[in-house]
Amino acid sequence: MALDPGKSVADYRALAARYDHATRRINGVRRRAVAALVLQPDETVLDVGCGTGHCFAQILQAIGSGGHLLAFDHSADLLAIAQSRVAAGGWRNVSIVESRAESVDFRDAIARHGMAQPAALLFSYVHDVMQSDAALDNLLAQAAPRARVAITSTRLWPRSWWPLCVPVNRYLYRTHERYITHREENFDRPWAKLAERMEGFQLRVYWPGWRYVATGRLRPA
Ligand SMILES: C[S@@+](CC[C@H](N)C(=O)[O-])C[C@H]1O[C@@H](n2cnc3c(N)ncnc32)[C@H](O)[C@@H]1O
Repeated sequence: MALDPGKSVADYRALAARYDHATRRINGVRRRAVAALVLQPDETVLDVGCGTGHCFAQILQAIGSGGHLLAFDHSADLLAIAQSRVAAGGWRNVSIVESRAESVDFRDAIARHGMAQPAALLFSYVHDVMQSDAALDNLLAQAAPRARVAITSTRLWPRSWWPLCVPVNRYLYRTHERYITHREENFDRPWAKLAERMEGFQLRVYWPGWRYVATGRLRPA
């Protein structure tokens, strides 16, 4: 199945209320991904496909009240939870937009608030976004030159881990049915298209072998 935004929005509508609980096992690797951005006070950060805003608190703690967090997602249901997080935290330096990655545009907001372009981009469990060239072209065009990137998501076990990779990858394929619409492309290397646009690419794999954090910087255009 190709990328299917309609299915994605519908799947996340059904998942929204229990999304944070259902994904609690990836809290650790999400934390590692945000830490790998080595965020600095006053920076602008883009949280790609932010979902319920699970990573907001950690990002905001690092950039402080002088920084800006830009975030978007195409799921209104997940964003409603992200908005309540922002309200509960009393955070005033977060801009959340309901939009597709292929068309989201932060240029006006950046100019209006006199903020810098994003110096750091977080791709946390956004497999579908990472398989869309149009999305990557649009997002990277709005980032600062050589912006830092951190990527985390599920990857299939490598074929060299045969024969155990067969049942494990079958399990991963099945359990990601409602989180990813396009598992056919690059599920073994979700970062592949983004890595082509990066330099200094580094990959660290974590237990149980399907979790990873990849880092690097955007390659100058
Ligand atoms: C597995 S969730 C990850 C959410 C969050 N980043 C996290 O770490 O919990 C994938 C997110 O990507 C969003 N998404 C998928 N394709 C998208 C697209 N083309 N444009 C915007 N959001 C998209 C979904 O709505 C969903 O919130």
